[in-house]
Amino acid sequence: MKRVLVTTGGGDCPGLNAVIRAIVKRASQEQDWEVIGSIQSFDGILREPTEIMVLDERVVAGIHIQGGTIIGTTNKGGPFAWPIKNRDGSWDAVDRSDEMIRKLQYLGIDAVINVGGDGSQRISQQLYEKGLNIIGVPKTIDNDLSATDFTFGFQTAVQIATEAVDKLVTTASSHNRVLILEVMGRNAGWIALHAAIAGGAEVCLIPEIPYDIDKVKEKLQSRYNRGKGHAIVVIAEGAMPIGGELSTEASSEVGYHNLRLGGVAHKLTHELKQAGLEADIRETVLGHLQRGGVPVAYDRVLATQFGVKAFEMILADQFGQMVSYRHPDIIAVSLLEAINHPNLVSPQSALVNTARGVGISFGD
Ligand code: F6P
Repeated sequence: MKRVLVTTGGGDCPGLNAVIRAIVKRASQEQDWEVIGSIQSFDGILREPTEIMVLDERVVAGIHIQGGTIIGTTNKGGPFAWPIKNRDGSWDAVDRSDEMIRKLQYLGIDAVINVGGDGSQRISQQLYEKGLNIIGVPKTIDNDLSATDFTFGFQTAVQIATEAVDKLVTTASSHNRVLILEVMGRNAGWIALHAAIAGGAEVCLIPEIPYDIDKVKEKLQSRYNRGKGHAIVVIAEGAMPIGGELSTEASSEVGYHNLRLGGVAHKLTHELKQAGLEADIRETVLGHLQRGGVPVAYDRVLATQFGVKAFEMILADQFGQMVSYRHPDIIAVSLLEAINHPNLVSPQSALVNTARGVGISFGD
């Protein structure tokens, strides 16, 4: 019997369960494969006692429509930076990757499929360089991984953000207000851009196009005539004014190395008031609602394609590679290519041009 270990790492994302199900269903078509899930990414392997579960067709039945991941996830620590507590109460990180690889051998794991975003795929590459038979599956609602046209979870997040814009429009128009919607997107404004176009927002602020607050104010002011009118601003959490800085919040969570973003909508309200905008302004922070719930059909399909391909890459010995969607194909690309640079919105792209074409201002 051969064994493939499946891990889901980083922030969760609608479609993870559809990937897991597809791996199990495809593996069941081969005579001699067993699929094992590690709980909370590689932590399940590193913990004592080990936390793993057998993933068979019975366990994965129907899970493609569920959000989250049945094997859990984490965006803290990991095999190369495992947090340990010192006697004085402070925390250090230790490299437990060699120990983990030995444990995988002991458990009879022949191959690993690591489903995750850029941080997780960096771990995949490091483990591959240490000799592990590993394959990456890209995941992120932010759609900021290059080497793939889309990641699953993104369309679901866009749908949720668009529905939020639709709801905000009715209350904004009733009160003649400016309503600001803060969406996720650390480095990339894909969610904000798609939701702004789909929802018909007036302003879209994204990390890739730093904004001039006076231009934003002008656009919003132009929506008002003698106090009547309304406007919607969609802002990505990583957006900033020209020459400005990211809006961040300190995190005291052990092993959490990401910069925690937050507060950009609030900051924008303040800047608009300072710039002299007279309209009433309210903010909505969509937050983790964008990552929760049932994946839309598109994400279920893409996730299923990724799961089937990942298992077939194991059969073809395509280790050190990541599954990728290059329309209309599902292909294998090197992990190195995938983690080399992020997938950002190009200010010159057709989509930005479309947005400008329907009058959306980027504040530039
Ligand atoms: O990377 C995906 C993402 O959703 C980012 O857009 C966001 O900044 C981050 O995760 C939030 O992560 P957490 O769940 O740790 O708050």
